[in-house]
Amino acid sequence: MLYYTKHFVDSDDIKYVKKILKEKKLTQGRYVNLFENKLKTKFGSKYCTVLSNGTAALFLAIKSLNLKKRSKVITTPITFSATVSSALMNGLDVNYVDIDDTTYTIDTAKLEKKLKKNNIKLLIAVDYAGYPCDWEKINYLKKKYNFKVLNDNCHAIGSKYNNDIKYALKYSDLVTQSFHPAKAITTGEGGAVYSNIKKIDDKIKEMRNHGFIKTKEILNKGIWNSNIDNLGYNFRLPDLNCALGISQLSKLNKFIQKRRELAKIYDNEFKNIDGIKLPKVNKNVYHSYHIYPMLIDFDKLNIKKKVFFKKLIKKKINLQVHYKPVFLFDYFRKKTNFNLKELNNSLKFYEQEVSLPLFYTLSIKEQKRVIKEIKNLLYN
Ligand SMILES: Cc1ncc(COP(=O)(O)O)c(C=O)c1O
Repeated sequence: MLYYTKHFVDSDDIKYVKKILKEKKLTQGRYVNLFENKLKTKFGSKYCTVLSNGTAALFLAIKSLNLKKRSKVITTPITFSATVSSALMNGLDVNYVDIDDTTYTIDTAKLEKKLKKNNIKLLIAVDYAGYPCDWEKINYLKKKYNFKVLNDNCHAIGSKYNNDIKYALKYSDLVTQSFHPAKAITTGEGGAVYSNIKKIDDKIKEMRNHGFIKTKEILNKGIWNSNIDNLGYNFRLPDLNCALGISQLSKLNKFIQKRRELAKIYDNEFKNIDGIKLPKVNKNVYHSYHIYPMLIDFDKLNIKKKVFFKKLIKKKINLQVHYKPVFLFDYFRKKTNFNLKELNNSLKFYEQEVSLPLFYTLSIKEQKRVIKEIKNLLYN
């Protein structure tokens, strides 16, 4: 079966992880620091904390901002549920702003309308599919309306904005990533928070490790001593996973280049076809294609999305949908605030979006088969 994603681990990765298996420490040894330093250099942050997954990264990033309970946060509905659940877990009041219908990231004109009427404390913007948001506009709005910005950058590892791979933290207070196997690079499970403020990073590192603090003063009372003055968690990322991350990070550029080549083939094969809409890319964006979202007008082509998926599964092609708008899940329908009339683009997107297989080891032969089967189903 061909899925929309597949991780890639090579013999170099295995060799490197094996080496760590022989080290004295399997967790919280020197590879945690090493991985964090490499991530800082690659993505241009003063500080970085790696965590057990991208959800823990979002949860702690938001927590580190110390917002009052029920503070208003805005995000996009076209995202993974964790973007929203991590805000709810922090006691925040979640509101949505619709997506733009060409970039599929948050619509900044609609965002400004919402900002004018509400006292928004935090924006969690998502660089959906690997396409950076309109960060210049968001930055302008951030200054005008004075709110914090968190970039849920899980999809956009290796993307560039204005030709800059280090763009994310230039426009945000905090940036989070995930290293789940579906992502551009993997640590098995894993995530990271990037920031430029030491106090924030210290707090995240503290919360990652049960809230333990070991200052000089505390250690003077005995080297075994520590203190806890806040609720902490165990969201540590072991050395084994960090080792895999270090090895994978060294191949990121190669991974993204291949994804872009495969995306170009889809672009060429499906362009100018009635009933199909392809991702458009602005000049200032270097898309990393974590996802290749293709929109199919199923009504126009007279086939039900459900049937289309089922028929492709029979051909051993299992597509995905990214995403069912978060507010459509029962829990989030009850616990978040929205007006369906303001979310038309997201609803239409959900009706039409399919994520085509796109990953480093996807062969041209496999890709051609996907293209052929989709065209057969839609046009024969
Ligand atoms: C946009 C987005 N945010 C957050 C997450 C959560 O990351 P993780 O699965 O590592 O917890 C994901 C991962 O699927 C994601 O795609």
